[in-house]
Amino acid sequence: MNRIFSGIQPTGNLHLGNYLGAIRNWVKLQRDFECIFCIVDLHAITVPQEPAALRKATREVTAAYIACGIDPDACTIFNQSTVRAHAELAWTLGCLTPLGWLNRMTQFKEKAGKQRDEAGLGLYAYPVLMAADILAYKATHVPVGEDQKQHLELARDIAGAFNRRYGVEFFPLPEPQIFGTATRVMSLRDGTRKMSKSEPSEQSRINLTDDADAIAQKIRRAKTDPHSLPDSVKGLEGRAEAENLMGIYAALTDKSIEAVVAEFAGAQFSTFKGALADVAVAVLSPITAEMNRLMADPGAIDAVLRRGAERAGAMADGYLREIYEIVGFLRP
Ligand code: TYM
Repeated sequence: MNRIFSGIQPTGNLHLGNYLGAIRNWVKLQRDFECIFCIVDLHAITVPQEPAALRKATREVTAAYIACGIDPDACTIFNQSTVRAHAELAWTLGCLTPLGWLNRMTQFKEKAGKQRDEAGLGLYAYPVLMAADILAYKATHVPVGEDQKQHLELARDIAGAFNRRYGVEFFPLPEPQIFGTATRVMSLRDGTRKMSKSEPSEQSRINLTDDADAIAQKIRRAKTDPHSLPDSVKGLEGRAEAENLMGIYAALTDKSIEAVVAEFAGAQFSTFKGALADVAVAVLSPITAEMNRLMADPGAIDAVLRRGAERAGAMADGYLREIYEIVGFLRP
C-alpha cells in the first residue's frame, strides 16, 4: 500500500515556494497514491496566531489546495485539530523521543533564536507532532520541500524507535519525496535566504493571492547581480539570485535548468525578468482567480473539510486503537 501524507501551516500567505516545492508535486502524485492533505493548524499555534486570522487562513489553504488542482473527492483534505489522534499520538511518540534528537533540529534553533528560554514547549515538540501526523495514517510517502528533510528523518527515527521499543513492525518508515527543479525557492530580495511566509518584506515572495501587476512588479524589482546571464549551468555557481530566478522559470515551464540556461545565454536580466513575469502570471493567475471564487463560499470549503475530517478521523482512530493496545493501555 502506498499512502501519502503532507501538510501546510495556515500561517499567513501561501507563496510560490509552497506551490513549487509542495502543492504542485501533490497534484501530480494524486493519480498514483492514496493521498491525505492536511492544513496543520495545531502546528500553526506553536507561534502566536490571532484566532480569526487562523480560521481565515485555514480556509484559504484549503481553497489553495483545490484551486491548484487537488481533487477533494479523490483525496482527503482536512484540518489537523479536527482529528484528535494527531495530538494523542504525539504524546505517545514524545515519550520515546530522546531530547538529544530534538536538540539537533535546525528549524527550532532558527525560530527560537536567542530567546531559547522564552520559546514554547510546542515549538520544541513540533517535529514530534509532525511525526504523529504521518504515522497516524501509516503513510509511506511524504512529498515536501527541501526545508522539511530533517524533520522527516526524525519521523523515520521515531517510527523505528516505536517499532523497536515494542518489538513490532507496526509503522512503515516514511519516504521523503523531494523532487522537481524548485525544492528550495529563495527570497526575491536575497538569493541566500529561503522564500518564507514569516519574512517581513512582501517584496521577498510571490503570494498565491497576488494579482498580475503585483507579480510582475515583484519580479522586476527582484535582486540581481550586474552580469548578463551565463551560457552554462556551471556559470550559475556563486550567483544565488540568477540561480534562483532561473530555477523558478524552469519549474514554472516544466523545463530543465540546462534548457533555460541555453534559452537565455548571454541575455540581460531585464529581458529574462520580462519572460519570467509572463510565465509566472500565466501559471498563477488562474489559481488566484479560482481561490477567490472558492473563498466567496466558505460554507462549501467547510463542507470539504468536514468530509475530510470524517474520513481521516475514521482511519486514524482505528490505528490509534491498535497503537494503544501495543503500548498496553487498558481499555476497561
Ligand atoms: P510549511 O507550512 O512551512 O510549508 C509547506 C510546504 O511548502 C514547502 N516550502 C517550500 N518549498 C520550496 N521552497 C520554499 N521556499 C518553501 N517554503 C516552504 C515546505 O517544504 C512544505 O512542504 N512542518 C511543515 C508542515 C507539516 C507537515 C507535516 C509536512 C506538518 N506536518 C507532515 C509533511 C508531513 C511546514 O511547516 O510546512
